[in-house]
Amino acid sequence: MAESSSESSTSDNVVWHSGSVDRSTRERQLGQVAGTVWFTGLSGSGKSTVAVEVERQLAAAGRLCYRLDGDNLRHGLNGDLGFSEADRGENIRRTGEVCRLLVDAGIIVLASFVSPFRADRDQVRAMHRSASMPFFEVYVEVPLEVAESRDPKGLYRKARAGEIRGFTGIDQPYEMPESPELVVHTATCSVEESAAMVITLLEGQGILGKG
Ligand code: ADX
Repeated sequence: MAESSSESSTSDNVVWHSGSVDRSTRERQLGQVAGTVWFTGLSGSGKSTVAVEVERQLAAAGRLCYRLDGDNLRHGLNGDLGFSEADRGENIRRTGEVCRLLVDAGIIVLASFVSPFRADRDQVRAMHRSASMPFFEVYVEVPLEVAESRDPKGLYRKARAGEIRGFTGIDQPYEMPESPELVVHTATCSVEESAAMVITLLEGQGILGKG
């Protein structure tokens, strides 16, 4: 990976140490092109479900992928963060950095995060652009009523009852992507259809064209 990571670095007197093996070498070894697919949408929209199916299909086709899931990272790396706007921003910033490391390792990353704030998603996009790494924003669109009726974790019910504050879609906003690479409508498409659209996008963008 080329020098520099986030613009917000506060580390003085630290100099980037380059290696002799680069991303394109690793991609050649793996026979694939790396990049990040970023799934964004309401809780209960189906982000993780679609990402799991995309991962299953890519792995079956011999691709090395790695899934980053908001719920899972909040058990470890991001376990110190809550759901304020600032904490969500930090959640997404850290995750964006992890995406960059994994893409630099040659891996296809499938990241599913509510990521309700456009500026946070745009920051991750910019991080990828500055490292010349492919980035695809997939908006997993679903009407709030549908997400709420699914309520797989019972969280909408708790949010309506006032037991959870700052729940996305209820008393915190979700800022829709303005120009995502793809929109999938999980209220009207099956998981398999949604996953197929993502795979078609990756094929069209040359991510699955090698190997
Ligand atoms: S993000 O907004 O910072 O991107 P992230 O994707 O990591 O969120 O985590 C969202 C998950 O945390 C949801 O799927 C839900 O299970 C849970 N959650 C708990 N509290 C909230 C909340 N206030 N708003 C949204 N999701 C919440």
